[in-house]
Amino acid sequence: MPELMVINGEYMTPAEGRVSAEDRGFTFADGVYEVMRIYGGVAFTLREHLERLERSASGIDLQLPHTVSGLEAQMTELVDRAGLPEAMLYLQVTRGAAPRNHLYADSLAPTVMAFVRPGPPRPEAWNRDGAMALPMPDTRGTMCNLKTIALLPSVLAKNRAVRAGGAEALFHLEDGTVTEGSSSNAYAVRDGEVWTAPLSHKILPGITRMQLVALCQEMGIRLHEQALTLREFEEADEIIMSATNLELLPVTRLGARPIGAGKPGPVYRRLCEAYRERVRTACGAMAAETR
Ligand SMILES: Cc1ncc(COP(=O)(O)O)c(C=O)c1O
Repeated sequence: MPELMVINGEYMTPAEGRVSAEDRGFTFADGVYEVMRIYGGVAFTLREHLERLERSASGIDLQLPHTVSGLEAQMTELVDRAGLPEAMLYLQVTRGAAPRNHLYADSLAPTVMAFVRPGPPRPEAWNRDGAMALPMPDTRGTMCNLKTIALLPSVLAKNRAVRAGGAEALFHLEDGTVTEGSSSNAYAVRDGEVWTAPLSHKILPGITRMQLVALCQEMGIRLHEQALTLREFEEADEIIMSATNLELLPVTRLGARPIGAGKPGPVYRRLCEAYRERVRTACGAMAAETR
């Protein structure tokens, strides 16, 4: 069954999904979420995503109503029931419904909602020519390490970037240091070495980033977890962005400025191939185990 949703254990189509208008997710963006990707009917790095969800929830003092293992079983059942081999899996937990008040009671029952649906298509031109990222001031504040549903600055930035002909926004702080994309991590390649912002409250600890850090180590590519300035990104040989659905994106223009040779570079191509291989191995093995 394509496009399947589950809300607090009840299955339906996404169009049928209903929650209270007093849900704090609606009134306060009071909740956390994860986006995962399904390959060959298996959610890739599901455990890592659920562990991050638990950390995000704990960061906003929200007690998840299920353990990570419990959520893992529920998400696996949803993915199996949906039966979509290539798709995205979204999971959101809000603090629950109550008369609107900044103060919340610890006794609230969280709303757990998840759905599976086909992921956004990837434009072929991105693989061939790369994409444009639009530099933009990072106005998000200091909770970027938590994956909360309060995403308005990111939503606005992404829309501005796409309206300007780009694929992503590239955030930088007032001092010029690049943090990450509106919904992706960012990397600059200089002389064959990779640079990405260190983990802190200023960026999301991307699960794809985690995979790329490990891949760089395995492949003997030196990786620096050290922030660079926008100027240094502009002068890089290559820029790459990464996220679960996006996988790896070669950024060949920052605004109007071409980056490096102006086409997807060799480090992007190597990492992209290694990442796909990692996905094939992990999901192939898990699919074989569970079927
Ligand atoms: C701000 C931000 N940074 C990075 C990422 C990439 O994270 P992941 O690789 O876990 O999808 C995302 C994903 O949505 C994001 O929203």
